[in-house]
Amino acid sequence: MCGIFAYVVFNAPKERKHILEVLFNGLRRLEYRGYDSAGISIDYEPSVGAKSSGGLKDLAISHPPLVFRQSGKIEKLVTTVYQEVDETDLDLELSFLNHVGIAHTRWATHGPPSPRNSHPQSSGEGNEFLVVHNGIITNYLVLKETLLRHGFIFESDTDTEVIPKLAKFVYDKLSEDTKKTHQEGYEGVNLHQVVMEVMRQLEGAYALIFKSPHYPNELVACKRGSPLLIGIKDLGDEVKTRDGFVSAQDSGRPKEIFLASDASALVEHTKRVMIIEDDEVVHVKDGSVSIFKFDPTRSSGGLRRPASIQRALSTLDMEVEQIKKGNYDHYMQKEIHEQPESLTTTLRGRLIRGDDFKAKSVLLGGLKDHLRTIRRSRRVLFIGCGTSYHAALATRALLEELSGVPVTMEIASDLLDRQGPIYREDTAVFVSQSGETADTLQALEYAKSHGALCVGITNTVGSAISRGTDCGVHINAGCEIGVASTKAYTSQIAVMTMLALALGEDTISTRARREAIIDDLLELPNMVKEVLQLDEEMKELAKELMDEQSLLLFGRGYNYATALEGALKVKEVALMHSEGILAGEMKHGPLALVDETLPIIVIATRDGTCSKQQSVIQQLQARKGRLIVICSKGDAATVCPNGASHVIEVPQLQDCIQPIINIIPLQLLAYHLTVLRGFNVDQPRNLAKSVTTE
Ligand code: F6R
Repeated sequence: MCGIFAYVVFNAPKERKHILEVLFNGLRRLEYRGYDSAGISIDYEPSVGAKSSGGLKDLAISHPPLVFRQSGKIEKLVTTVYQEVDETDLDLELSFLNHVGIAHTRWATHGPPSPRNSHPQSSGEGNEFLVVHNGIITNYLVLKETLLRHGFIFESDTDTEVIPKLAKFVYDKLSEDTKKTHQEGYEGVNLHQVVMEVMRQLEGAYALIFKSPHYPNELVACKRGSPLLIGIKDLGDEVKTRDGFVSAQDSGRPKEIFLASDASALVEHTKRVMIIEDDEVVHVKDGSVSIFKFDPTRSSGGLRRPASIQRALSTLDMEVEQIKKGNYDHYMQKEIHEQPESLTTTLRGRLIRGDDFKAKSVLLGGLKDHLRTIRRSRRVLFIGCGTSYHAALATRALLEELSGVPVTMEIASDLLDRQGPIYREDTAVFVSQSGETADTLQALEYAKSHGALCVGITNTVGSAISRGTDCGVHINAGCEIGVASTKAYTSQIAVMTMLALALGEDTISTRARREAIIDDLLELPNMVKEVLQLDEEMKELAKELMDEQSLLLFGRGYNYATALEGALKVKEVALMHSEGILAGEMKHGPLALVDETLPIIVIATRDGTCSKQQSVIQQLQARKGRLIVICSKGDAATVCPNGASHVIEVPQLQDCIQPIINIIPLQLLAYHLTVLRGFNVDQPRNLAKSVTTE
């Protein structure tokens, strides 16, 4: 949900073309977070040119930073920028020794996609303050009214525009105040002080990056609620001294510094990163990065220098290949096909094979000290949105069976709407691929305020949910870029299955059942490989279904979640109406829809509910329903003795992990339907990955 990116060059000559390409590439990596408009800001000319004249600031002011904004995809922005650069006669080969560029890719919340609603948003003439923003400012109307009264003119419909205007207002005021109180030699107002004063006025969620010609070669960023990372690349000796440029030895080591909403935009440059926490302000100046804690309670703190925080760099556990499509046409396709590997990584080191003396078991390092508390909970609540919610739903029955603890399911927004009861004796498990979904994060705050033990199940190390919970498990599925979640879903089910096994490990009566599940988990990656061979078959089915208006999916038991998730995939990428229905509810309404034309997928693999699904199939056939049946290998004749328009046979594993197998043909179907219907697979209409707004 919006991506922000910044590229800082310190003491290392880089051509304008290179700077533009780094910014565009950063945006391409973040495009899955929002793709309806984009923009960048770069410097007009190298500020080092002014160094000898001592007039750095004046020079920068007389040539305000360049801003390019465009609605539509990143590539449209790229074309526009190169056209405009050409027309303005800006030399692409001109080198900058120091430079700060900022960039943004937007998912519209306030105002339709258009150049004026794109970011960077500006303080007005001269672009004295430029801001890129991910999040929502909830009190922007109040701020806007005040700024209008002070003579500011607004050009966009965005909430963000109040931020650079407020920065200009604060800057003017602080500069005036300091001039009055300080005599000769005063240092003036720092950019981070301006930003802190701005933060004091803002309500809502944000990650912000500020650029200002008053502070050439500096950049300040801050965050509350939305993610922000910094990557640092030390260029060491690589930099050669060039005419007119100071040498590396004279003035600090040359560096490139990157800021981004997520790690996928950093990994191709550096693996040395820092995660910025809420209410922190980052100031990049002279090649060094200072982090300050913003204290909202400290009024008039604007002019006193706050203490900086020491933060060690951590190493990104991600490879460049993970963020590339490789031989696949789309990320969704790649991510569906890499599930044997993603599941292997999810399970790695967590399944203990046991021996004659020791039962097979699971090891979830992040939870081992909390299992007793969870077992003794009055209730375990699973909280998530969309696909993550479905993953929890798929494992609910096993969790109840093995833990004996009542398990309830909550869609995060609904829990918040109802302000549903949560108690100190509860365990609340937050399931989220991104670890930054706004509804789930707010539900986490809510559960924390009620004293529940909070457990996180996420795919993003260092995400807000993984940091905000008391303990948790990373699903280790690898970076998921396709907006439609696929491999995270199957890894989430695998992790929650292991959670159920861990919670039940003290119960002797379930030992055989647990061991059988562990045996099948060990087999799972191979079985997933096998079921992926249905690719061609699902493509053929997609050809048959591509012109349909609607599709129903009937599931029950473990596979009610499969029906919901399959329908969500078809809906969100293929833009075809589809509905997952609890088969037990069929006679209570949905049966009225059945006729000879409406395609219906029935999931009837082998489990305790299979015979019930067989009678569902018979009842649908009695009404001449157009059936597509998913059943276990070899079961076709028993499950649908009267035949069906299609039967998809899948390998059979333990009932509780069968949803991992069953969803794969449906993921493939959704993928092929999308391609055949001519829609954008990785950037579905109106959607974006990581929903960081309510
Ligand atoms: C659907 C999909 C969404 C997400 C939901 C929660 O394919 O991806 O439904 O599952 O927005 O996102 P996370 O898991 O990041 O909290």
